[in-house]
Parts: sequence; structure tokens; C-alpha cells
Amino acid sequence: MSTAKLNAIITQRHDFGTGAWVIHVVPDGWTLADFEAGQHTALGLPGTAPRCKGSLAEPPLKKPEKLIKRAYSIVSSPLERDRLEFYLVLIDGGALTPRLYDLRPGDRLWMSPKITGSFVLSQAPPDANLVLVATGSGIAPYVSMLRTILKPDIKRRIALLHGVRTSQDLGFMKEMLAMQRVSPHFTYIPTISRPKNEIVTWTGRTGYVQQIWESRALSDIWGFDPAPENTHIFLSGSPAMIESMVDHLGRDGFTEHTRTNPGHIHLEKYW
Ligand SMILES: Cc1cc2nc3c(=O)[nH]c(=O)nc-3n(C[C@H](O)[C@H](O)[C@H](O)COP(=O)(O)OP(=O)(O)OC[C@H]3O[C@@H](n4cnc5c(N)ncnc54)[C@H](O)[C@@H]3O)c2cc1C
Ligand SMILES: NC(=O)c1ccc[n+]([C@@H]2O[C@H](COP(=O)([O-])OP(=O)(O)OC[C@H]3O[C@@H](n4cnc5c(N)ncnc54)[C@H](OP(=O)(O)O)[C@@H]3O)[C@@H](O)[C@H]2O)c1
Repeated sequence: MSTAKLNAIITQRHDFGTGAWVIHVVPDGWTLADFEAGQHTALGLPGTAPRCKGSLAEPPLKKPEKLIKRAYSIVSSPLERDRLEFYLVLIDGGALTPRLYDLRPGDRLWMSPKITGSFVLSQAPPDANLVLVATGSGIAPYVSMLRTILKPDIKRRIALLHGVRTSQDLGFMKEMLAMQRVSPHFTYIPTISRPKNEIVTWTGRTGYVQQIWESRALSDIWGFDPAPENTHIFLSGSPAMIESMVDHLGRDGFTEHTRTNPGHIHLEKYW
């Protein structure tokens, strides 16, 4: 494989549960741009890079030397300037993730020097309460946001609702629980959709993130209703979840935020 375009090196890898992992990536000979928590960049490998064992076969590539590139939210905080951290989920039939899954510390990949995206907290008023909703790897931008803004004496209320298949897929659970302990205004609510697949009985919430919203759990925890005049909502991950949440939120008076029409709902669709 030509290494000419592979401008970054993996320095750390940590695996979570089944098919999810974190990597730390350091630029080789260039400097990381400034960024805001919640933004994304792109990672890539050429088609000649091997696919991991167990992944689905793909049809022959027309130009195997060409880089396969995909967008990834940055997990690390912009306060850390030496490397970027990413949270990846293996898609067995995907083009890039079966190739990324084979990489170990010391291996090279391509990382875009450009960091972009408007899924950032500066899109919401600084005093607005925040409901951060994710499925699967959609938690990535929130980890960066929380690592950047959470302090023990933070005044605004922040809730993170994270929906995954089983508790093994709750990447960052330990870190989120630790944040909740030191920052009383932060609430972490995980939910699993496939309790029958648990190794030991799960005593937490089950179902989709929409059910947590519908249950009014946040009103009980916060002591007031999250409403458009006091709360902004961020939605990240599965497009089906996002579309359904936008419907639910619309019934409660929340509207989508766009450049021309300011609203209270901010979206990051992963596909
Ligand atoms: C702004 C942005 C940020 C993103 N951040 C992340 C991130 O932090 N971590 C991450 O793992 N992915 C992230 N993605 C998705 C990522 O870009 C790739 O699509 C994903 O890694 C799959 O790549 P692939 O080439 O292996 O499969 P593809 O051939 O690109 O995708 C095949 C199919 O897999 C499904 N899929 C794609 N991504 C996911 C996912 N993350 N979880 C569940 N199903 C998925 C979709 O049905 C898709 O059609 C992000 C996407 C966008 C647009
Ligand atoms: N996570 C794993 O164990 C694992 C391991 C290896 C590979 N993979 C592959 O990785 C890919 C992504 O898996 P993932 O579980 O990380 O992400 P995902 O498919 O986006 O699912 C994340 C969570 O969102 C739920 N969900 C699905 N539709 C929803 C909707 N309309 N509204 C709200 N929530 C919804 C899922 O529930 P459901 O139970 O209904 O799906 C699951 O709880 C898949 O292709 C999978 O084959 C996953």
C-alpha cells in the first residue's frame, strides 16, 4: 500500500463491547486546526487496505488506490491539542470501517486537515438548558462537548439520552457516570433496545430514546418542563431516530434550527 497520502498515525486503540472502538490519531508533520466541540473531520484509507476478518466481501473496486473517506465526529476536547480521538462502529458491509478496524497503534491512515460542522453548542444561547440525544456512535460529539464545558458549578441543566442495543455498546458509560457524580446539573440516561441479549439482567431503562422524552423523565429530574423558552435539543446518530424525535419535539413546540430560521433543535445525521 502506498503510504504517500497517509498523513496521520494511530497512537492508541481501545475496544468496547462488540465492534465499537476508540482511536487516538496524531498528525504526522502538520498541525491540527482549531475546532469547536461537536465538529467533525474525515478519515480515510485506500481501497488496497485489507478488510478485517469476518467483514462482508465487497465487489472489486474500480480504482483500488483511491482513498475511501468518511466523516467522523471528534470525541476529544478542543482543549487537548496534540491528537484527535474518534469513536467508531464496525459496519460489516461498509467500505471504510472494516479497513479501519484492522489498524493498530503505529499504523498510518489519512486524516483531513479540515475540521467543519455547525453541530456546536455556540448555536444555542449560553444559558439554555441542553438535552443531548444520541443513538450508537452518535454520542461522539457530546463527549467532546461535555469534556469541554462541564464543571462542578455549571448553572444550566444538561441531560444526555443515549440509546444502544445492549449495555455492552454503552461506550463512555464510566466517563459519563463520573461526570454525573462531579457535576450535579448533568444527568446521564442510557437506554437499551435489546434487553434479551444482555449477559446479565439490565436494571436500567429499556426502549428507544423517544420513550425517555415522552415519559417526561426530565421534568421529574429537573423540577420543571424542558420547553422551547428554556431548552435547546441536540440530536445525533440514526436518521430514523432524528426524524422521529423531531416529530415528538414538534408537538411540544420545539422547531428545527437553520441558518435562516433560528429554532431549538440541532441535528447531526450520520447517514
Ligand atoms: C457528520 C458525520 C459524523 C459522523 N461521525 C461518526 C462517528 O463519530 N462514528 C462513526 O462510527 N460514524 C460516524 N459517522 C458515519 C461515518 O461517516 C460512516 O458512514 C460510517 O463509519 C460507515 O462507514 P463505512 O464506509 O464502513 O460504511 P458505509 O458504506 O458508508 O455505510 C453503510 C451503512 O451503514 C450504516 N451506518 C453508517 N454509519 C453508521 C453508524 N455510525 N452507526 C450505525 N450505522 C451506520 C448506514 O445504514 C449506511 O448506509 C458520521 C457521519 C457523519 C455524516
Ligand atoms: N452494536 C453492536 O453490537 C454491533 C456490533 C458489530 C457491528 N455492528 C453493526 O454496527 C451497525 C450499527 O449498530 P449500532 O447498534 O451501533 O447502531 P444503530 O443501528 O444506529 O442502533 C443504535 C440504537 O438505536 C436504536 N434505533 C434503531 N432505530 C431507531 C429509531 N427509529 N428510533 C430510535 N432508536 C432507534 C437501535 O435499536 P434496535 O435494537 O431497534 O436496532 C439501537 O438501540 C450495524 O450495522 C451493526 O450491524 C453493531
